[in-house]
Amino acid sequence: MKLQQQANLRGRCTLGSLPATVLPVLLLAAALLAPPLQAEDPKIAYWLHCSGCHRQDGVGVPPEVPTLIREPGRIEALPGGREYLIRIPGVSQAGVDDARLAEILNYMLETFSAETLAKDFQPFSAEEVSRHRHRVLKNPLKRRDEILAGTTDPVETGG
Ligand code: HEC
Repeated sequence: MKLQQQANLRGRCTLGSLPATVLPVLLLAAALLAPPLQAEDPKIAYWLHCSGCHRQDGVGVPPEVPTLIREPGRIEALPGGREYLIRIPGVSQAGVDDARLAEILNYMLETFSAETLAKDFQPFSAEEVSRHRHRVLKNPLKRRDEILAGTTDPVETGG
């Protein structure tokens, strides 16, 4: 390639004019530098982090994996219910930040529990998620029974 041609190439350095070998390298570098995939839509985040077990439509695989239809909405309104929802292992340990986890919980409740969700439901915030998620429930089913029966101090019991 003549010097003048090389100078021309450099002058109009758009992706289209890059030599074929450079583009894959650039794309690879971009992929390595990019943050982990975080889809903007909470539905996609639910699909990525929850639907493998609970299915895309929330029906779960009972009895191993509980349904997310109606039940979480009912639980949310009970004393200790919101904290319980955050501290469930599959929830608290999901590979997303607090803000995204709050969005997933809100999506889950508003989509699958619309019928049972309290009329004055306050969406989860990143702050609320961050306050509770590090205390992962060791025995979620026991905790669930306690909440439904109203037999536990919602905040103090470790679970
Ligand atoms: C690896 C499978 C798995 C994944 C992934 C998972 N869960 Fe679960 N989930 C379970 C199981 C099993 C339970 C029953 C409690 C337990 O054993 O942890 C449960 C319980 C729940 C409950 C309690 C339901 C009730 O009626 O008490 C909610 C709410 C929930 N999961 C939401 C989610 C959300 C939201 C995500 C994604 C951020 C998620 N789960 C990811 C398996 C999973």
